[in-house]
Amino acid sequence: MDTNEVVLSLENITKTYQGAGDPVRALQGVSFSLRAGEMVAIMGPSGSGKSTLMNLLGCLDKPDGGTYIFGSQNIMKMDRDDLAHLRNKRIGFVFQNFNLLGRTSALDNVAVPMIYGKISGREREERAREMLGLVGLGERVHHMPNQLSGGQQQRVAIARSLVNRPDLLLADEPTGALDTKTSVEIMALLQRLHREQSLSIIIVTHEPDIALHCQRIVRLSDGLVVSDEKVENPLQA
Ligand SMILES: Nc1ncnc2c1ncn2[C@@H]1O[C@H](COP(=O)(O)OP(=O)(O)O)[C@@H](O)[C@H]1O
Ligand SMILES: [Mg+2]
Repeated sequence: MDTNEVVLSLENITKTYQGAGDPVRALQGVSFSLRAGEMVAIMGPSGSGKSTLMNLLGCLDKPDGGTYIFGSQNIMKMDRDDLAHLRNKRIGFVFQNFNLLGRTSALDNVAVPMIYGKISGREREERAREMLGLVGLGERVHHMPNQLSGGQQQRVAIARSLVNRPDLLLADEPTGALDTKTSVEIMALLQRLHREQSLSIIIVTHEPDIALHCQRIVRLSDGLVVSDEKVENPLQA
């Protein structure tokens, strides 16, 4: 991928939640862009809008206002089906609590995102095995989530997120449920994937040590970007 290529750009994005009580203005005009091959951390206090931003970036939800361009596509003008398609093909997701299916093998968990494509059963299995190999779990393909450690479960989730070869990986607190040593191992894996697969990655974290593994740190406060800075010498996990 051309590294000058812009993967996505947001301009003046707003999002308000209408609940039973007062409306919550979660994002109040966020502008941000990501170039191909960047690895960025999003930080900010609890309630600052990080998860809301990730949900919008991942097309799981739509902004109320502003402009969101992904690749050459105007997200604001796309319907639900088109968004679901784009999400499935071009964006991988990793969450704090892994979100794996229980009583389902690592292999079958990784194969889930391929269900929607026109891929044969055999190819699905091959590709799922390849992805588990990539994350260092080639020997554990038939293990169930409850037979794997937290770090291993997060590796399965990362393998699943990459199985459709996305351009962008969105990880919301990917190390939030892991101890320090395991967190650094997960960052090592993400850095390797970033390097070897020229994957663009956005990681939400509230841990400064995790953020310093990225090339750039964007800080949110009260639904606004308050700083956006390059990390001079990112930590190598
Ligand atoms: N589905 C929702 N309905 C109503 N309010 C929400 C919803 N999701 C988030 N919020 C509110 O929006 C604000 C931003 O939340 P969130 O994006 O989850 O922040 P963060 O991930 O930084 O902790 C918070 O005030 C939160 O309570
Ligand atoms: Mg959050």
